[in-house]
Amino acid sequence: MSRAVVLVPLGVDAGRYAAELAEVAAATGASLAFLQAGSPSVTDELDRLAGLGVRQVELVGLGLGAPTARSWLRRVAGHWRRARPEVEVLVGGRAVTGEEAPLRSPAWEDVPGHAHQVLVCRGPRCSARGSAATSAALDAELRARGLGDDDVLVTQTGCLFPCNQAPVVVVHPDDSWYGGVDPDRARAIVADHLVGGLPLPDRLPRARP
Ligand code: FES
Repeated sequence: MSRAVVLVPLGVDAGRYAAELAEVAAATGASLAFLQAGSPSVTDELDRLAGLGVRQVELVGLGLGAPTARSWLRRVAGHWRRARPEVEVLVGGRAVTGEEAPLRSPAWEDVPGHAHQVLVCRGPRCSARGSAATSAALDAELRARGLGDDDVLVTQTGCLFPCNQAPVVVVHPDDSWYGGVDPDRARAIVADHLVGGLPLPDRLPRARP
């Protein structure tokens, strides 16, 4: 085999659809790799294909919009190709040259100084019960109050386990777990907890052995 096509879902929640995406890939004669939060990664799949003797790989990014993720797919491919110049790689039909921006930057050296990190569960149960709207409300409220990543770092995660309480949000370092976080509750977490310093009273109890 000298040429291969790899479908690359770009979203952070693409792992949820891994089985369906694998079916699509198989039906089209392609393989599957994930830009983030899924296995195999793009570089692992490129390694595998190169090991099979493939000398041209087309990476097809799957995602609506997602311009940032698309540019990252090109960067990741460029990073890989710098070590494997004998394999031609295309992203979106354009050749990857190896001169793409690197995966490292001086701006990404230090652990950021944010006061809080907020985990928003985007696992299957929370997603089905509205965590996309939760996440959007959280982001909008933080933006409206002028709070950025340096103040509150919002991270979307896979399942955090108390799925019955979906949508689940956690505020660290306070170890405050919130369930049933609809958009109104997300705004209250920003106002009372993140800005006002007073965690909401109806947090989920932490089960400790
Ligand atoms: S899916 Fe959100 S806690 Fe399990």
